[in-house]
Amino acid sequence: MHILVVCLGNICRSPLAEGILRDKLSDQPDVIIDSAGTGNWHAGEPPDRRSISTALESGIDIRSQRARQVVAADFENFDLILAMDEQNRLDLLKIAPAHAKHKIHRILEFANMGNDGVPDPWFGELEGFRDVYDLLDKACERVRERICRT
Ligand code: 4NP
Repeated sequence: MHILVVCLGNICRSPLAEGILRDKLSDQPDVIIDSAGTGNWHAGEPPDRRSISTALESGIDIRSQRARQVVAADFENFDLILAMDEQNRLDLLKIAPAHAKHKIHRILEFANMGNDGVPDPWFGELEGFRDVYDLLDKACERVRERICRT
């Protein structure tokens, strides 16, 4: 199972989701996790320092991640593509080939946590990153349960 988590910039939300999922699924050698952004403004950059410090508070080190934009091959190489919010989902659907559209879900919907998106903490304070971390930690636990059951 190959899972791609996607946000807009690939520096705030999806790096956290990637780090949390890697941690929760570290005992599953067949699960591969990566993240990407629908935009390319931050390609090559490490995650936002606020995401890095928030993750480190929970013992998760995301410092070696580097942002990249979603590419066409992602729709072939990944089995499950989890978008952070509705805009990310719609942007992915626009570029996905028809046979891959069924792979794309909002992460909170996939986790049975309702219809909201994961809020973008980029313009806010550190506290917003902690809220996003807690939300993603819950969602990723549900994702783990769903993946490990199938
Ligand atoms: P992310 O947050 O999508 O969670 O990585 C953002 C980071 C940067 C920008 C937007 C969202 N930006 O516009 O540069």
